[in-house]
Amino acid sequence: MKIFAANWKLHKNPKETREFFQEFKALCSLRPQTKVLFFPQAICLEAALTAVSGTGISCGAQNIYFESKGAFTGENSAQNAKEMGAEWALIGHSERRSLFGEVDHGLAKKVAHAQSLGLSPMLCIGETLDQREKGETNSVLKLQLVQGLSLAEKSKPLAIAYEPVWAIGTGKVASIEQVRETHQAVRQMLTELGFSTSTPILYGGSVKKDNAKDLIQIPNVDGFLVGGASLEPKSFWDICSVDV
Ligand code: PGA
Repeated sequence: MKIFAANWKLHKNPKETREFFQEFKALCSLRPQTKVLFFPQAICLEAALTAVSGTGISCGAQNIYFESKGAFTGENSAQNAKEMGAEWALIGHSERRSLFGEVDHGLAKKVAHAQSLGLSPMLCIGETLDQREKGETNSVLKLQLVQGLSLAEKSKPLAIAYEPVWAIGTGKVASIEQVRETHQAVRQMLTELGFSTSTPILYGGSVKKDNAKDLIQIPNVDGFLVGGASLEPKSFWDICSVDV
């Protein structure tokens, strides 16, 4: 199973969301060996869920809090997202870590909370350019996995998105060799931590139609998390429909 996930970040309003899906649904014919899902901003989640109802396309929240309700101004309730029909929660995206100060300890609680509600968490991990150049990639990723998954239930669904920070939104995609090595290392770390060998590991960072067809063939690349190239129906569908 290959997963093609769109991270819309803070783009699109509800009207643009509906228009996107009108066009996207006309293009897309889902294959049994692939899963397509969208992470719209919370304000557009309802529009997205209504648009994909009955199509087999899934949606998730870009961020959740680890409590379902209470005095937490500005946060998103995972329980509400689940009740609305969301199936996924994106957790620990590098923008959440670098711009909003999210740390592994809190992310672990979010992962566990999502799982407890029946949402599949997609935990994002990735090294900075400085960390890669210093040879710290594997130790950084290992720490993010160990801490981020410290409260996770191994028997419940979850996915990892490996996104080198230096490749996000920069047009700089990691090389085939870098992706091969790093996904293999992440797979080994997950196995050592006791997670199933079928835990999906997605690659993210400047994925486009042109690089998607080679990247998807790399062992342990179980799909993509796509930012910029997911904003236009045709450009995202071109990625979702690569040969797998
Ligand atoms: P990008 O974003 O595809 O625009 O690099 C990926 C992401 O941030 O998830």
